[in-house]
Amino acid sequence: MILFKGLLSIVTYGVAIGAAYVEPNPSRTTSAAVPAFTYNATSFLLHGEPYTIIGGQMDPQRIPHQYWRDRLSKARAMGLNTIFTYIFWNNLEPTQGLWLSEDPQNDVAEYFRIAQEEGLNVVLRPGPYICGEHDWGGFPAWLSQIPGMVVRTNNTQFMEETRKYIVNLAGKSGLADLQASRGGPILMVQVENEYGSFGENHNYTASVRDILLESFDVPLYTNDGGDSWPLEGGYVPGVLAAVDGGSWALPARDLYIKDPTSLGPLLNGEYYTWSPDQWGSYNPHNTTVGNDGAVSQILSDIPYHLHNYSASVSFYMFHGGTNFGFENGALWQNRTTVFTNSYDYGSPLDETGRTTDLYFKMRDAIIPFLNGEDIPEPPDNLPRSSIPEFSLCPTTSLFEVRGKRTTSSSPLTMEALGQAYGFTLYEHTATSEIEGSMQAGDRPRDRILVYVNEEIAGVMDSQYQHPLNVSVSLKPGDKLQLLVENLGRVNYYSRGNPYKNYVQDPWKGIKGEVSLDGMVLNGWDMYSIQLDTLPSGECKPSLEKDQRSTDSPLLYQGSFVGPPTQQNSSMTLDTFIAVPNGIKGNVWVNNFHLGRYWLVGPQQSLYLPGTVVKPGEVNEVVILELEPWQMNATSMVAYGDSERFWGNNPDPDCLVCV
Ligand SMILES: *[C@@H]1O[C@H](CO)[C@@H](O)[C@H](O)[C@H]1NC(C)=O
Ligand SMILES: *[C@@H]1O[C@H](CO)[C@@H](O)[C@H](O)[C@H]1NC(C)=O
Ligand SMILES: *[C@@H]1O[C@H](CO)[C@@H](O)[C@H](O)[C@H]1NC(C)=O
Ligand SMILES: *[C@@H]1O[C@H](CO)[C@@H](O)[C@H](O)[C@H]1NC(C)=O
Ligand SMILES: *[C@@H]1O[C@H](CO)[C@@H](O)[C@H](O)[C@H]1NC(C)=O
Ligand SMILES: *[C@@H]1O[C@H](CO)[C@@H](O)[C@H](O)[C@H]1NC(C)=O
Ligand SMILES: *[C@@H]1O[C@H](CO)[C@@H](O)[C@H](O)[C@H]1NC(C)=O
Ligand SMILES: *[C@@H]1O[C@H](CO)[C@@H](O)[C@H](O)[C@H]1NC(C)=O
Ligand SMILES: *[C@@H]1O[C@H](CO)[C@@H](O)[C@H](O)[C@H]1NC(C)=O
Repeated sequence: MILFKGLLSIVTYGVAIGAAYVEPNPSRTTSAAVPAFTYNATSFLLHGEPYTIIGGQMDPQRIPHQYWRDRLSKARAMGLNTIFTYIFWNNLEPTQGLWLSEDPQNDVAEYFRIAQEEGLNVVLRPGPYICGEHDWGGFPAWLSQIPGMVVRTNNTQFMEETRKYIVNLAGKSGLADLQASRGGPILMVQVENEYGSFGENHNYTASVRDILLESFDVPLYTNDGGDSWPLEGGYVPGVLAAVDGGSWALPARDLYIKDPTSLGPLLNGEYYTWSPDQWGSYNPHNTTVGNDGAVSQILSDIPYHLHNYSASVSFYMFHGGTNFGFENGALWQNRTTVFTNSYDYGSPLDETGRTTDLYFKMRDAIIPFLNGEDIPEPPDNLPRSSIPEFSLCPTTSLFEVRGKRTTSSSPLTMEALGQAYGFTLYEHTATSEIEGSMQAGDRPRDRILVYVNEEIAGVMDSQYQHPLNVSVSLKPGDKLQLLVENLGRVNYYSRGNPYKNYVQDPWKGIKGEVSLDGMVLNGWDMYSIQLDTLPSGECKPSLEKDQRSTDSPLLYQGSFVGPPTQQNSSMTLDTFIAVPNGIKGNVWVNNFHLGRYWLVGPQQSLYLPGTVVKPGEVNEVVILELEPWQMNATSMVAYGDSERFWGNNPDPDCLVCV
């Protein structure tokens, strides 16, 4: 616990508060005893003593669970006293009613127990919508198939599923027992996330508040951008209002929140240490490295929050980690913009959990506020390993990995097929001669490889500002094949922008009819290709470049021997996997899906945690190359690099696209 004896007296508030302040939910303090954690008009109070939250965001579901303790101990060693944590509902409940809290990667209670052992408190941010650059802000895809469902509103169906989710989190996942009121580390629970940017239906957020109050008795809070409309739309009566943004956001809470039941100590719940990356030839990697102005802004904002404003703060991200597999989200800005698998975020701990220059500079800036309290020395960074280049051979055409066939007159969406992520193949056999410019549903959702008889005819992609029109010409018996890739559902929409609200339109695949020059094509076979189990195959020379008779995406297979390590005989060191000849695709190691590669960048290699690799043994690698016809190289190779590199290249599918 941290006491700010000297500093509290220096505080001057720009705006008078306190007069109209109302005690936080009196029903929570049932006994006469001092509540473990509460707040008065000016201070958070831990066991009755003033407590300034010096927090950092770190989401366990983005970090290999074997590394949780290492990352948490480094948070404490930077001087943080609290960890802020989003929960990804879709990972915990991938299928309706199937709750996976036993899965070590979803065992959030274990993460919180380790945090407490490492001397940290936690703030729980369960959503249900968490934004977070995560697929659909954490909503499971199956929500979209419940009739009448309207997410992020006080809609009966939505509130019903939200209630079950919160009850499971509190009970089955064991989080209610980890509240500060019961001796655990959980200080507070957030209601929704930045809801005020999205809407202003206080009936909805009040319903979320009431559902949380059925399971949790520590204080609740909301977190909204530092402007009038997000704060006014997002505050909830009886719930402490917090802001997020740079230091400019700090005055906003007391300027715009007039309801005394939402006032109290000031918290900046997301102070951005930097920014996430999105795919694109023109998107350089976001980093503070070499940006002295950004670093000095962060360093001067630390005392500005803790001293000038006597505010609490959470650095977003302290450690970003990885959107493994298909977990990344996307934005809609009149075109789809897609977050990379790397969620490095330029944060003080890099994607592999190593301390950076920024970490040590922030630590030095925080130490003066610890009132002489000792914090541990940060551990030395482990080295990373390299894996010599190895080659992979083609084994399977993706068009052979079809699974169950569904037939329908009009195309069905990916979700209607019971599929959450990955690819869906739509196939139509022409019955007459027809040609023209194709329209595939209302818009590409999201990237469509268009084939006629397995020969590529073009690419349509909602990432492109000016969608390419693909024209095809079909004879009777020709197969039109549309392989649609889900690039990630929208995780943030602001009512302050002029774009469409695709948070409430999350469907992937094809929605609507497919037509050629306005002529609707009826009769479709559909195949879900989610790739959560990979086909195993033999090398097929007939699929090598110059031998193959198909432009189908190809699965390649190869292996490497895990580098031995002295640190831990049952795991190896982290590395970055690069696929130098690849165009666009996905990589699995020992069936663990690392995520996407795409030569456009800025991400040019994929984080391979040592926890996935077996030292001294053969490790199996599968690569899905989506665009083998674009490959100039004759072979597919990969290697592990101990250093990360970033960079951008032109997009061979759309040289004029943004
Ligand atoms: C809040 O509690 C702290 C610690 O007891 C105290 O110093 C401060 O005066 C209190 N603030 C108000 C407005 O009561
Ligand atoms: C909120 O609830 C009140 C009372 O039940 C109702 O009058 C009002 O129309 C509701 N507002 C919205 C936005 O649903
Ligand atoms: C939310 O909707 C439910 C069911 O439609 C209704 O009973 C409840 O009063 C609403 N809550 C609020 C706070 O308006
Ligand atoms: C991070 O990258 C994205 C995509 O290039 C860009 O829009 C954004 O402005 C960058 N953020 C910062 C803080 O530079
Ligand atoms: C913050 O407080 C310090 C010391 O009280 C003061 O010198 C400085 O000007 C303040 N900074 C700002 C931006 O007001
Ligand atoms: C979005 O794109 C459409 C179609 O190209 C255009 O009409 C509209 O003005 C664009 N909106 C914004 C906000 O850029
Ligand atoms: C592309 O197709 C759309 C929809 O069919 C049409 O409105 C547009 O004019 C076409 N653009 C070009 C450049 O052909
Ligand atoms: C070594 O790695 C294994 C597998 O990841 C892990 O379970 C174990 O805790 C590690 N041991 C040490 C001492 O870190
Ligand atoms: C393949 O080679 C051609 C011709 O040299 C070049 O224009 C193209 O950019 C290359 N493609 C890739 C993906 O490197």
